[in-house]
Amino acid sequence: MARKIVVTSGKGGVGKTTVCANLGVYLSRLGFRVAMLDVDIGLNNLDVVMGMERQVVFDITDVVSGKCRVRQALIEDYNYPSLYLLPSSHSYASSKITGEHIKNITDIIDHSFDYILLDCPAGVEAGFHRAVYPANEAIVVVTPHISSLRDADKVVSILSKYQIENKYLVINRMRGDLLLNGDMLSLESIVKAMGIPLVGVIPEDDDVGKMSSDGRILTDCESARAFTLLAENIHNGSKKIFDCTYKYRGILGFFKRNIKKHV
Ligand SMILES: Nc1ncnc2c1ncn2[C@@H]1O[C@H](COP(=O)(O)OP(=O)(O)O)[C@@H](O)[C@H]1O
Ligand SMILES: [Mg+2]
Repeated sequence: MARKIVVTSGKGGVGKTTVCANLGVYLSRLGFRVAMLDVDIGLNNLDVVMGMERQVVFDITDVVSGKCRVRQALIEDYNYPSLYLLPSSHSYASSKITGEHIKNITDIIDHSFDYILLDCPAGVEAGFHRAVYPANEAIVVVTPHISSLRDADKVVSILSKYQIENKYLVINRMRGDLLLNGDMLSLESIVKAMGIPLVGVIPEDDDVGKMSSDGRILTDCESARAFTLLAENIHNGSKKIFDCTYKYRGILGFFKRNIKKHV
């Protein structure tokens, strides 16, 4: 049976799709069979982030309406072993798709994958329900800002109404320089405010959405190292957290920090 993990947050633009895509890539690099379901119906982001939008023939609404089978709509990502994507659609009245529909899809592919990752839309309405309903675990993505924490806190309490066995916190867009200067909420205060275990910290990284010429996510950048740790933590329960501050420590780091402050 697959672990079914929804990536959610409440707020838009905090990095749900980015975390979902990278977690999928790094879990597949660890040797697992991964299906990513874009349940942000109406916006189709995941295929774009993965550079797979040209491969889309069928999408999630075609599966729900019976136009094709799940297997026909799943796109294989040839850049990574056993990584598949079920794309969302931007042309269908999303209200017609229910949580039950998505659960039927996860039930069909349950035995073919080790992980099913569900990319959740922003908000806590029907789209949220649709993505969370089939999941048994949840990653709550926050950025180190009060507004993000406030929305995510609501999400955590709503998640308790679902059959979610494990909830994990990912802090995205962390700035090591601001952290050391005391200008950003500390990891400890964020974890304390959210009350769920920390599974990953992803640094602010301009390379996060970039791809190499052969369509692969960049693997020689800071965020790649952080996503590798996140995938390992999710899989084996380890607690290796990426240190965003390492390059800003010491005398050289002090200058880097201050240069960054003044540009
Ligand atoms: N760690 C990061 N560093 C820099 N930019 C990021 C990071 N995480 C996400 N982004 C950028 O933020 C934007 C929103 O991210 P996205 O994953 O689409 O958010 P969501 O799915 O929560 O709406 C994208 O342009 C993405 O590239
Ligand atoms: Mg998204």
